[in-house]
Amino acid sequence: MNVRDSELVSGILMQAGCHLVDSAESADIILLNTCAVRQNAEQRVIGRINHLSAFKNNSSKTIGVLGCVPQHMGQDLLDSVPSIDFILGPDSYRCLPEILDSALDRRYAMCKLDKTELYEGLPHHRAEKSPSAFVTIMRGCNRMCTFCVVPHTRGRERSRKSEDVIDEVRRLIDDDVKEVILLGQTVNAYQDGTTRFDRLLWQVAETGIPRIRFTSPHPSFFREEELEAIAECDAVCEWVHLPVQAGNSDVLARMRRGYTIEEYIDITHRIRDRIPRVALTTDIIVGFPGESEEQFEDTLSLMAECRFDSSYYFKYSPRPGTYADRAYDDDVDDEEKQRRLERVIELQSELTVSSNQKFEGRTAEILVTGRGDRGPDQWLGRTRENKIVIVESKEDLLGAMVDVKITGTGTWSMRGELKR
Ligand code: 5AD
Repeated sequence: MNVRDSELVSGILMQAGCHLVDSAESADIILLNTCAVRQNAEQRVIGRINHLSAFKNNSSKTIGVLGCVPQHMGQDLLDSVPSIDFILGPDSYRCLPEILDSALDRRYAMCKLDKTELYEGLPHHRAEKSPSAFVTIMRGCNRMCTFCVVPHTRGRERSRKSEDVIDEVRRLIDDDVKEVILLGQTVNAYQDGTTRFDRLLWQVAETGIPRIRFTSPHPSFFREEELEAIAECDAVCEWVHLPVQAGNSDVLARMRRGYTIEEYIDITHRIRDRIPRVALTTDIIVGFPGESEEQFEDTLSLMAECRFDSSYYFKYSPRPGTYADRAYDDDVDDEEKQRRLERVIELQSELTVSSNQKFEGRTAEILVTGRGDRGPDQWLGRTRENKIVIVESKEDLLGAMVDVKITGTGTWSMRGELKR
């Protein structure tokens, strides 16, 4: 989501006459787009600004901090880092050119949430001409999971009009894009008044885009029609990222996720029954307040039962302003969180290896999205299940959809040979 927002910010600035340079040292304006979802992300931003401030000495550089960290910290951020000239929350990017004009006179803070801002009619600038592009279909979040800062930093949920989404996809196709990744905090709550998420998938497919992905759906909103669209619509890839967060229903209730573990497992069975080759991935938090050893073990059991192809895993990080931070004691100490995280990582590696091994000897279609880092002939692509495949070719394969034979597998990636 932040990558797409940064493309929007670049687009707005380029329309205002700026151009991109490739180092902070040579820039007149340095902008950082930020994430506040966990505390270490926030700390990294502050470390990075302090580092960049060195470039500011004796020059007229302007430093702006954008996104969720300023939205979350507000004036405290300006107070704690003197080198920042202005801060802008995620609904204020439109004002960027004006603010740049006036930031030299005074320090600016623009962090008002705007429940109508959908950034229509503004250009995006994709720095890397990747054949895979993000398309934001909605902004904000109404879920109020007790651990999560996002509703506080990105405001209420609102969906773009499906016509605007489709226009954007068409423009991306004209720009040689082969795959769109539809983005939203809860994509399957998409609702523009006439169109729901499953219809949107069909409409995006009608543009002729070869591949469609989306992230992230919420288990409580998973409807039969959506499963049908994923299963039946050729362009929609066989990959579902369905964040579970924890493997125990009591923990889920305290997270206010709105589903039990039985309900979650039921959805994964329905998905796997309908789309046998699907890759299922998830998000997991360990060490949520009050999570006992047994409750944590339930997360491991769930992972084994659902056979996740991969997962993102995090140590619980208390976020000021959230319900969990106010109401619960962060009582699992960091050492214990780390131990739990390591057990999740270990199990996930085994599950990923065994899921990847099933690809060995098979032919897979990959979309080549970039270069590998071992020599000019190495290319990276993704299968429809979102698995990374490395292939060698003297030919320029960027943007090509090619068939490869999978010859080797690991945890992070698989190796393939081009089929002719
Ligand atoms: N602590 C740890 N992980 C979190 N996430 C969101 N908030 C927190 C938090 N306070 C994780 C969730 C979410 C992902 C984007 O980040 O797993 O799905």
